[in-house]
Amino acid sequence: MLKKVFMAGVVFLFACTISAKGYCQGSVKELCASSAKEFQKINQLKGFMPDQLNDADYKTIQHAAEVMAANEGTRQSKFNVDANTMNISKLVQTHAGRIADRCKSDKVGLIEDVGHNFRFLFLSCRSCHQIYVTEAGVAP
Ligand code: HEC
Repeated sequence: MLKKVFMAGVVFLFACTISAKGYCQGSVKELCASSAKEFQKINQLKGFMPDQLNDADYKTIQHAAEVMAANEGTRQSKFNVDANTMNISKLVQTHAGRIADRCKSDKVGLIEDVGHNFRFLFLSCRSCHQIYVTEAGVAP
């Protein structure tokens, strides 16, 4: 029985490794495209005044930040090959994580704090692009 479970695990991991797209989010490009979508959601909401935002908006921000942090975790475990990218990935996770955490507490000053952490997040995403894909001209 255990042996079967183990074999299924091995087969699954193998499928993940060889599939360019599909089973387990196949490429850096896909991960980034997903993060970029979430990034824009926060980018729009952070421009509002606190009294224009409601609980659903904060949930949207929190969820977006969580997805980005999770994407970065996936990237880190699957694609990061050197210590530099590893560190940049950690920066993205840290700042996305701070945004998500901040959404769970006091509303006073919340959107300002999100904006502050979002600038760090922007720079973290950007630092990888500026080093590794300068020619692509991606935003951030
Ligand atoms: C560790 C490096 C790294 C980090 C961190 C990173 N990216 Fe990327 N990003 C890349 C690479 C490499 C590409 C080019 C992928 C390709 O074209 O194959 C890319 C491409 C993109 C693209 C273009 C995607 C497309 O469809 O052509 C966008 C948009 C993007 N990243 C957004 C982000 C956002 C938002 C973040 C932060 C949450 C982020 N990236 C963090 C390395 C990174």
